[in-house]
Amino acid sequence: MAFDSKKHQATQSDDGSFTAYSTEFEEHYHSTKDGALHESLSKHVLPALKHTNNKDEIIILDICFGLGFNTLATLYALKDSKKNVHIYSPEFDEDLVRSLVDFTYPKEFSDYKDIILSLAKTQEYKSENLSITIFLGDARVFVKDTNVKFDIVYQDAFSPSNNPLLWTSEYFKDISNLMKKDAILTTYSTALATRIALEENGLKVYLHKGEGFRSATLASKSELDYEKVNVEHKMSCNPQLTSLRDETSSF
Ligand SMILES: C[S@@+](CC[C@H](N)C(=O)[O-])C[C@H]1O[C@@H](n2cnc3c(N)ncnc32)[C@H](O)[C@@H]1O
Repeated sequence: MAFDSKKHQATQSDDGSFTAYSTEFEEHYHSTKDGALHESLSKHVLPALKHTNNKDEIIILDICFGLGFNTLATLYALKDSKKNVHIYSPEFDEDLVRSLVDFTYPKEFSDYKDIILSLAKTQEYKSENLSITIFLGDARVFVKDTNVKFDIVYQDAFSPSNNPLLWTSEYFKDISNLMKKDAILTTYSTALATRIALEENGLKVYLHKGEGFRSATLASKSELDYEKVNVEHKMSCNPQLTSLRDETSSF
């Protein structure tokens, strides 16, 4: 079965790895400039794993599974580690998940063919130290219903302008409730509305910048060793700006 469909087409990104374009959301799954693998590692996986380095077990919420880069890049970054890893990932596009067996992944993921096959077929993978579960359905419902508490949240939905319901203050309230006191949230979004929504829900907001990728955001209930974003000051310079809200968002 070919990966390309009416809804999504594979596209090569600037680091050589393939991402896809969603005709439904009119957006690529990753920044084509930063590169799919590079973006996943630099903006999400590496800062999150650095933060949880001292834990023997990490529980991850990967919003949303998409092509699975954040999940697979986590396994790649942890390949020499003995940590217990549990990944929970909502995704409502079942056809996409089933078509991942035909997606061209970077060579860094070549050890994970069995995992990709199992996830595409049954939405589950389990081994001694690893469990991955994809929840076919709405991420908003998953974050309301689950009782699991997370060490890491990869907030990697389509952009606030194209998929606002996964960036509202009400949504981040549910996410914040699921985060352990020392959990970290990673996101590529640097939008002030996103940062306001995070702060409104008890999360401190940090600038994540580095070589070779565009700046991103980290958030936690605890102090992080990154440059803190002064959200109040930015709000006072943009008094008309608020967080996104459920009642004014759709899709
Ligand atoms: C930017 S992509 C995720 C990229 C992914 N992290 C990766 O590494 O490939 C966003 C994904 O969110 C899914 N999605 C959008 N809204 C959703 C919702 N309300 N519930 C579950 N999945 C949703 C889309 O189908 C898409 O696969």
